[in-house]
Amino acid sequence: MEDVRSPLTGKTALVTGAAKRIGRVIALTLARNGAHVVVHYHQSAQEALELCSEIQRLGVSAWPVPGDLMDAQQAEKILPDAVAKAGPIDILVNNGSIFEKDTLWEATEESIGKNVRIHAVAPLILARQLARQERAAHIVNLLDTRVAVYDREHASYDLSKSMLLTLTRMLALELAPKVAVNAIAPGSILPPPGQGQAYMAKLTYTNPLNRIGDPEEIAETVLYLVRSRFVTGQIVYVDGGMHLKGHLY
Ligand SMILES: NC(=O)c1ccc[n+]([C@@H]2O[C@H](COP(=O)([O-])OP(=O)(O)OC[C@H]3O[C@@H](n4cnc5c(N)ncnc54)[C@H](OP(=O)(O)O)[C@@H]3O)[C@@H](O)[C@H]2O)c1
Repeated sequence: MEDVRSPLTGKTALVTGAAKRIGRVIALTLARNGAHVVVHYHQSAQEALELCSEIQRLGVSAWPVPGDLMDAQQAEKILPDAVAKAGPIDILVNNGSIFEKDTLWEATEESIGKNVRIHAVAPLILARQLARQERAAHIVNLLDTRVAVYDREHASYDLSKSMLLTLTRMLALELAPKVAVNAIAPGSILPPPGQGQAYMAKLTYTNPLNRIGDPEEIAETVLYLVRSRFVTGQIVYVDGGMHLKGHLY
C-alpha cells in the first residue's frame, strides 16, 4: 500500500526554544528523519551551537537563530533570519516557553502579558510569516494538558496556553489549505527547572496510565503531525490520559 505520509527529506524545520529539553529532542527527531533544522534559542547559545553540530553529523544542515519571543520586534525577525540562512521554512514548531507559578489572585498585567507574548503573540507572528511564504507547510504548537485541566498554581501560564489552543484552531481555518496547524498538549514529561526526579516520581500516579512521558513521545507526535496530509486543527494530548480526569493531582 502507498505510504500517504510525506517524507521530510529536503524539508526545513524551525523549532523555537530548541537548544534544550523537549525542543532539542524534537529538533533531533526531525533531523533524523531527513529535515534540515533551524535551531532557535534565546539564552542557550552554547547548547544551540552544540545541537547544530550534532544535527550536522546526521548528514543534514542546521543553523542557530537567536531571538527573544517575548519581544514582538525580535520575534518578527526570527523567521526572516531563518529564511535568510536556510531558505523557505516547511515546518514550524512553536515550542519556546516559560513556566512560572502564580494563582489568579497573584496574576498581574505583567505576568499575564509575558505569558501571552511568548505563548500566543510570538506563535501568531511566526505563523503569519510562514503562511506568507505561500507554500505548503505544517505548524505544530506545544500546549499543555493544563488547557483541559485547571492548574490553579500556574494561572497566567494556563491562560496563555489556552489562548494558543484557540489560536491553533483559528489558524487551522485561516491558513488552510496550504498550511496545516495542529497542537500537542503534553502531560508530565520533564521536571521544571529546580525540580528533580523526586518531583516527577510524585506525578507518576496522577494520570490514568500511571507513568511519566518521554520527550521522545512528544517528538514522535510532532513527526506524525508534520508527515500527515489530512490532519489539521487537532489537539493531541500526550499526557497518559490526564486531560480526562478534570484535576491535576
Ligand atoms: N516539560 C514538561 O513536562 C511539559 C509539560 C507540558 C507542556 N510542556 C510544553 O512543552 C514545550 C517544551 O517544554 P520544555 O519543558 O522543554 O520547555 P522549557 O524548557 O520550559 O522551555 C524551552 C525553551 O524555551 C525558551 N524560551 C524561554 N523564554 C524564552 C524567550 N523569552 N524567548 C525565546 N525563547 C525562550 C528557552 O530557550 P533558551 O534556553 O535558549 O533561553 C527554553 O530552553 C513547552 O511549550 C512547554 O510548555 C512541557
